[in-house]
Amino acid sequence: MSAPLVEVTDLRKSYGDRVVLADIDLTVHRHDVVCLIGSSGSGKSTLLRCLNLLEQIDDGVIRFDGEEISDPRVDPRAVRRRIGMVFQAYNLFPHLTVLDNCVLAPVRVHGVARAEAVERARELLDRFGLSEHVDKHPDRLSGGQQQRAALVRALCTQPELLLLDEITAALDPELVGDVLTIVRDLAEAGTTMVLATHEMSFARDVATTVCFLDGGRILEHGPPASILVAPEQERTRQFLRRVLPGTG
Ligand SMILES: Nc1ncnc2c1ncn2[C@@H]1O[C@H](COP(=O)(O)OP(=O)(O)OP(=O)(O)O)[C@@H](O)[C@H]1O
Ligand SMILES: [Mg+2]
Repeated sequence: MSAPLVEVTDLRKSYGDRVVLADIDLTVHRHDVVCLIGSSGSGKSTLLRCLNLLEQIDDGVIRFDGEEISDPRVDPRAVRRRIGMVFQAYNLFPHLTVLDNCVLAPVRVHGVARAEAVERARELLDRFGLSEHVDKHPDRLSGGQQQRAALVRALCTQPELLLLDEITAALDPELVGDVLTIVRDLAEAGTTMVLATHEMSFARDVATTVCFLDGGRILEHGPPASILVAPEQERTRQFLRRVLPGTG
C-alpha cells in the first residue's frame, strides 16, 4: 500500500484548560472516504480544522503527503492550497457571481491563467448541474445550489484532500440528496475526503472508514459495515440508537 496522504499521531487539542481532542490517531490513504460521526460537541469540526491548520494543536503530529505540517515552521497557506474545505453554510463570497467565486482562488492563489480557470470552472459547474447559474450571485440560488457551487469552488483548485464539515446540515431535507449525490460522485471518482456527517445512511454508502468520536476521542473506527452495524462499544451503540430511526 502506498504511503498515507494524511497521518495523524497522538493529536491533542484544548481550548484553555478544556481538552477537546485527545489521543487522536488517524490514517487517510489516497481515495479513502473517512466519515467522522459522533454527537454534537464530540470534536468533529475541530479535528477537520486541525487537519487544515485552522487550529493550532497542543501535541502530536500531523503529516500530509509525508510532510510534518504540524511543525510550526510550516506555512499554513501552502498546506491549504492543497486541501479544499467546505463548511455547513456561508461558503460563497456574496459579492461575486458563482463563476467568479470558482475562479478566484485558482487565479489569485494558484496563478492559473484566468481563461483556463474559467474553462475548468464552467466544466465543473456544468457537470454539477449549475450551468444556468454561473452568472448569478449566491443569494439568487437555493441553499442546495449554493452548497453545490461551494463544492465546485473547492474542486476548482484541484485539492488533493477535501474536508467537508456537515455540508448538508443547513439544508432543507429535499435539497440534501442533490448535494450528497455530488459527494458520492466525487467518492466514486476517487477523491480523498474526510467528512463530518450526521447522515448515517450516506456514511454507510460512501465511507471506506467510519470514525466514531466521543468526548474528543476516536472511540472506534473501521469499515461502515462494522462500526454502523455491529459496533463494539456501548457508547457507539447508544449513539446509533439515537440517530438511526427504527433501530432502537
Ligand atoms: N473556538 C472555540 N473555543 C472554545 N471551545 C470551542 C471552540 N470551538 C469548539 N469548542 C468546543 O470544542 C468541543 C468540540 O466542538 P466541535 O465543534 O469540534 O464539535 P462537533 O463534533 O463538530 O459538534 P457539532 O456536531 O455540533 O458540529 C465543543 O465542546 C465545543 O464547545
Ligand atoms: Mg461540527
